[in-house]
Amino acid sequence: MSHVLVDESTNPVQGAQAMSRTHKKEDMIVFRDISKSYGASVALHSTELTVRKGEFLSLLGPSGSGKSTILNIIAGAVAPTSGSILLDGKDVSTVPPRERGLGMVFQNYALLPHLNVFDNVAFPLRIRGVSKSEIQQRVRNALERVGLTGYEHRKPREMSGGQQQRVGIARCIVYSPSVILMDEPLGALDKKLRDQLQGEIKRLHRDLGTTLVYVTHDQEEALNLSDRVCLMNGGRIAQLGTPDELYFEPVNEFVADFVGESNLLEGVVEGANVVKLNDGSMLRVRSNEGHVTGSRVKVLVRPEKIEVVEGNDAAREDMNVCSGTIAQTSFIGGMTRFELKLSTGGTLLVKGISARAAERAPHGQTLTVRWLARDSVVLRK
Ligand SMILES: Nc1ncnc2c1ncn2[C@@H]1O[C@H](COP(=O)(O)OP(=O)(O)O)[C@@H](O)[C@H]1O
Ligand SMILES: [Mg+2]
Repeated sequence: MSHVLVDESTNPVQGAQAMSRTHKKEDMIVFRDISKSYGASVALHSTELTVRKGEFLSLLGPSGSGKSTILNIIAGAVAPTSGSILLDGKDVSTVPPRERGLGMVFQNYALLPHLNVFDNVAFPLRIRGVSKSEIQQRVRNALERVGLTGYEHRKPREMSGGQQQRVGIARCIVYSPSVILMDEPLGALDKKLRDQLQGEIKRLHRDLGTTLVYVTHDQEEALNLSDRVCLMNGGRIAQLGTPDELYFEPVNEFVADFVGESNLLEGVVEGANVVKLNDGSMLRVRSNEGHVTGSRVKVLVRPEKIEVVEGNDAAREDMNVCSGTIAQTSFIGGMTRFELKLSTGGTLLVKGISARAAERAPHGQTLTVRWLARDSVVLRK
């Protein structure tokens, strides 16, 4: 025992300090200064990240931004170049994948083609030496959860893509992993099936209460499913927050652009709540906090925060008002989306149910729109 260099469990004081510094009871996965390089190219810059117990966290971002790298480091399939990773308070940096107790779902299903559905789902239990009767019980339960009761004897090739992915999910949940990892699990499916399975995954997460980390490049999917979204850009976290925070309070232009549609207005800080736009007009904004007078900023206005003014009740202290001509109208579901060519130059994208006036107004017609000062969000950087 004298050769154990650091064994926190045998040193209560040191151990307790180390625990309180690094681990909170509600933390499930903690990245401490984790990075990953392949030769000279950096896949993941030094990253601190905490996933809370029971939460649904999405890793969102363009292709090559480091999403799968993070997931594979959690799984143990990729060894980080630096840093350490904690699972439920325990440093697992050197623990092999199978001993981490995680479940994984892949985009290409990764089913064993020569095994039927039952044996595919039973596979992780067999390699763990679970008894035959318990395997029966657990596989039945897992298949029931994904709606595949009665499909036990089918081979993967005899099933649709959506059904195969349900098998993949059943195989993942069958041994009750403490964390479920999914890497673009719906990426190979068409839109309608994707929407359906999204709903099923969301319900499954709610029922099981398991921590779930989900990789996707689809912002709608991430916003719909997640408790929190971790948006990646070039191997770094661009922003980590609730879907609401990313959508309405993006920290920079990349986030504003990647998540939803946006109007980005450029100007110079004029006062605490005023930005002078390039066209000379004054824009009332929520806050210029963190920006000194005279500095150049970009202001985000979400298209659905803009409403068409009908009649002449436009002028209000807390609002921005402007006019332009309708350039492009389209209908998306129950919403109208149109571009307004402003009289001062520039274009404003408007979207929403309250944009109904644009449905009646022909192309080229002049329209006045307005939005609240607090819906003009000055980007932090
Ligand atoms: N085995 C590897 N060898 C070299 N470069 C890699 C390897 N795996 C990933 N990369 C690079 O690391 C970066 C991040 O990759 P990845 O995490 O797979 O991105 P994402 O999942 O967001 O599409 C990319 O530039 C990718 O080319
Ligand atoms: Mg990937």
